[in-house]
Amino acid sequence: MRYLITSALPYINGIKHLGNLVGSMLPADVYARFLRQEREEVLYICATDEHGTPAEIAALEEGLDVAEFCQRQYERQADIYQQFGLSFDHFGRTSAPENHELTQHFFQQLEANGFIQERDISQIYSLDDQRFLPDRYITGTCPHCGYEKARGDQCENCTKVLSPTDLLNPRSTISGSTNLEVRTSKHIYLLLDKLSDEIRQWVEAQTHWPQLTQSIAMKWLNEGLQSRGISRDLSWGVPIPKEGFENKVFYVWFDAPIGYIAATKAWGEAEPGRDWESWWKNAEEVRYTQFMAKDNLPFHTIMWPATILGSREPWKMADYIKGFNWLNYYGGKFSTSSKRGVFLDQALDIAPADCWRYVLMANAPESSDSAFTWEQFQKPVNKELADNLGNFINRILKFTASRLGNTLPEGGTPGDLEAELQTTCDQLVKKLRDHLHKMEFRRATETLNALWTAGNQYIDVRAPWALFKTDKDEAAVVIRTCINLIRLYAIASAPFIPHAAETLYDALKLTDEERHHTMTEAANLTILAAGRPFEVPAPLFQKLDDDRLAELMAQFGGE
Ligand code: 2FM
Ligand code: ZN
Repeated sequence: MRYLITSALPYINGIKHLGNLVGSMLPADVYARFLRQEREEVLYICATDEHGTPAEIAALEEGLDVAEFCQRQYERQADIYQQFGLSFDHFGRTSAPENHELTQHFFQQLEANGFIQERDISQIYSLDDQRFLPDRYITGTCPHCGYEKARGDQCENCTKVLSPTDLLNPRSTISGSTNLEVRTSKHIYLLLDKLSDEIRQWVEAQTHWPQLTQSIAMKWLNEGLQSRGISRDLSWGVPIPKEGFENKVFYVWFDAPIGYIAATKAWGEAEPGRDWESWWKNAEEVRYTQFMAKDNLPFHTIMWPATILGSREPWKMADYIKGFNWLNYYGGKFSTSSKRGVFLDQALDIAPADCWRYVLMANAPESSDSAFTWEQFQKPVNKELADNLGNFINRILKFTASRLGNTLPEGGTPGDLEAELQTTCDQLVKKLRDHLHKMEFRRATETLNALWTAGNQYIDVRAPWALFKTDKDEAAVVIRTCINLIRLYAIASAPFIPHAAETLYDALKLTDEERHHTMTEAANLTILAAGRPFEVPAPLFQKLDDDRLAELMAQFGGE
């Protein structure tokens, strides 16, 4: 079995927030790192999702050509993800030539197989903006409740679904212009209704999917699939290879998921010997897992499978779709447009990536929505990372270095308490692996924390500092056991806090081979023998005091 992993592709327009990270990229990264550590063959792919009106408008606002805007934003996002330790095998772009080619290919297959239809549709054209306006870029007064800032697709105030022609006093959201008219143009439709039975069959066969994924897919199927427009009157996007469609491009959601394949192709072409197709075509021995937030589930359980099924080609479909609920900021939503919440560049100025990685996974919105609050950030950083893990490491290594020098001490043999600790560690590691295999991230962090607690309980009982005065051999056993525990902690924690893990690998001067041990191998608490050298690293995690917390709440809003 080989493991293909993808994270929902982040939109290009702007830096993402913590909610985006926790719902797709971060859990996928933890999973990918874990599987690689287990010596599985893994390919972890992501890319920026670059097409669509929002990108065009964001470019316009910055006074940049859209290609130039996307290039800059791509580099900014790639840099931030690297700082967060996201270990993509390839981070591509949907604007890349591979995606243009494959998108056009899928379209041609769908057309040849009778799943495409041409239709004339009426749309609002803004004369001053010189463009067609998507429904949500038209603002006006809601005919139902009188709300003056209703969008052309829905009224935010009374939640009624609207169409732009329902709005009173409609105006362009982009320029405010009221110089609008209805124009008719030709568009292409994907006949989802014709594929409905096949999609249902596929969905129904996925009995092992998480409840959230399954229920969203079934809801859509049961409401009946409608054909869906997949062309847009824009210039930025993948051109439609069809006569009469010269000034149109594909709808962003048509080409975005194809981006998973295209980014894999780009990965394959970057170095000789990489067989990208073997991951996607007739890939029965590949297990493919997708990570995303719940708003993306309809596209991945219905739309994207429809494209693949309708192509009548043997492309890989997801074996497992891990969907996440929302991470809220206090009571409300994170919002890019109203800048509510914490964005990834700001996050890195506040605390190191590992703190965020751990805290976010510990609060992952797996079974229901969860909230980010500064209080909930402080607690795991201080109690779990700084105290339970960091302090254990620091106390043991500092004590040993100051009393016995920078090598593991000789003497004594492990006794009952060590055997007991060994059993606990073996059990916890088994549990941790089990949770990670099942992608149960909250439970995995709880188990990791329990593993750290086991070490603290052991030194509370064994008190090496006191033992050192009465029985040097016994103290040496305890210290060796603890330093082996530190090694286990580094390896078991690595999928969550990879930077801290690296620091510990260096401090313990692990060989290349030892750095690549699995958790199971690392659980042996006698591997590092007497005489092994080590260094004392700087404290791994800084605590967040109450004053700092108050500052952060004042800066970001904490209500
Ligand atoms: O919701 C989003 O952020 C989309 N950009 C996700 C796209 S996923 C994939 F299909 F490309
Ligand atoms: Zn309304």
